[in-house]
Amino acid sequence: MRVIALGGSVLFGDFSSENIKKFAQVINEHDGKLAIVVGGGKIARRYIETARSLGADEVTCDIIGIDVTRINARILAVCLSNCPDTVPDNFPDAKELLNRYDKVVMGGTFPGHTTDATSALLAEFIRAEELLIATSADGVYTKDPRIYSDAEKIEKMTPDELVEVVSRSSINAGSSSVVDLLASKVIQRSGIKTRIFLGTPENLKKVLDGGSIGTLVSY
Ligand code: UTP
Repeated sequence: MRVIALGGSVLFGDFSSENIKKFAQVINEHDGKLAIVVGGGKIARRYIETARSLGADEVTCDIIGIDVTRINARILAVCLSNCPDTVPDNFPDAKELLNRYDKVVMGGTFPGHTTDATSALLAEFIRAEELLIATSADGVYTKDPRIYSDAEKIEKMTPDELVEVVSRSSINAGSSSVVDLLASKVIQRSGIKTRIFLGTPENLKKVLDGGSIGTLVSY
């Protein structure tokens, strides 16, 4: 059993239903149980920014983000076979659904982190063999490559090293770093084998087939 963190920006991008169909096809064609945690993407960030500018507190902003991730999850679930109509909002329900279906899609759970952390917690809870994080970066870099031109991509790192790299990131609602700090801490404590890669349908297929792209986080 594997868990996929599918970033909202990755899945929806410019709201192309073709892109969503392509991801769904890769997931449907995979012969094995998959739990998919869908992110909020640009639309969640827009809602959060608007709420924040109107004076909403950070928890309220997070709850708004969670609501969007659940809508996004519901849209992906429409395209999947052997997947329940229900989008679980907690880990025991997701686990129970995975006993009955091959594919289960969920969004966020509770405030204070992103769906990266949700996916890491789910992976820990269901004892998944691997966590696959499909994101908008092609791996983990020594420092933020959008700011530092000398940043280097890391092919393989330990969970301790991952925690060190992301520990300087902000945890404000709607912030974006390669993975969030809580996700890295959960990966560290459970030692779950994790691959962080550029989320395209082709790359998702590659990693589901055991390909080595992006960054592998493992002891
Ligand atoms: P995302 O997981 O989408 O964050 O959650 P992201 O980093 O913007 O990821 P992409 O762009 O989809 O790849 C959106 C927001 O929803 C709240 C947080 O505020 C997060 O920034 N959220 C989400 C939670 O508070 N808890 C959750 O379990 C999930």
